[in-house]
Amino acid sequence: MKLILLGAPGAGKGTQAEFIQAALKVPVISTGNLLREAVAQGTSLGLKAKEYMTSGRLVPDELIIALVREKLASHDCEHGVILDGFPRTVAQAEALDTFAAPDAVVSLEVPDEVIVKRMTGRRTCPKCGSTYHVEHNPPQVEGVCDKCGEKLGIRHDDDPEVVLQRLEIYHDQTEPVKHHYDALNKLQQVEGVGTVEEIRQRIFRKLGLEL
Ligand code: AP5
Repeated sequence: MKLILLGAPGAGKGTQAEFIQAALKVPVISTGNLLREAVAQGTSLGLKAKEYMTSGRLVPDELIIALVREKLASHDCEHGVILDGFPRTVAQAEALDTFAAPDAVVSLEVPDEVIVKRMTGRRTCPKCGSTYHVEHNPPQVEGVCDKCGEKLGIRHDDDPEVVLQRLEIYHDQTEPVKHHYDALNKLQQVEGVGTVEEIRQRIFRKLGLEL
C-alpha cells in the first residue's frame, strides 16, 4: 500500500507512522527527517533547505519533489511506502500522482491549540528521527532514545513563534492537498485528539489493519 500521512505540524504523523510501518512492513519516507539529515551533513540540499526550515517555511517544491522521487526509486518500495510530510502543496501532490499515486491518504485532524501544547513537550532523536513527548509519550529512560540510545533533543523549529508560522503555512498551503485527494476519493480523515493508542486504533480501523 502506498499511504500518505497528512496533518498539521505536530499532529502526530511521525508517531503514528512507526505503528503503521510495523504493521505494513514497508519503509517510511519522512521528508522532514531527510531534510534534517541533509542539514546535519551539510549537503548542498541541506544548505539550501536550512533557512526555510529554521523559519518554518516550506522548502521549494522542485527540491522536495526531486528528493522524494529519488528516494522512492532507491528504497525498497515494491510492497508499498508510507509518506510522512509529503506532499504539502497541491503542486507536490500533482507531481506525485505522475510517478507514485497513493492508494490511501490519512489526514490527522488536530486543533491548533492542541498542537501548540504538544510541540512544547516534544523531544526528538537527532540520529534515528524517533519522536517522544515528555508527558504523553515518554522514552523508557528520560532523555534517551529507546531505539538507538542517542541523547534526545529539541527541534529548532519547535520554538513557539515558529510553530505558529508553520501552522499558518499548513492552513494556507497544505489544507488544499486534502481537497485534492478528497476529489479523488482517497481521503480518510481521522480525529487526532486522544491518546497515542486511541489514535493508532482509529487509523488501523480506517485502513482495515488488524488491531
Ligand atoms: P516535518 O519534520 O515534516 O514537520 P511537520 O510536518 O511540521 O511535522 P512534525 O514532525 O513537526 O510533527 P508530526 O505530525 O510528525 O508529529 P509528531 O508525531 O512528532 O517538516 C519540518 C520542516 O521541513 C518543514 O517545516 C519544512 O520546512 C520542511 N519540509 C518537510 N517536508 C516538506 C515538504 N513536503 N515540502 C516543503 N518543505 C518540507 O508529534 C508531535 C508531538 O506530539 C510529539 O512530542 C509526540 O510525542 C506528541 N504526540 C503525538 N501524538 C500525541 C497524542 N495523541 N497525544 C499527545 N501527544 C502526542
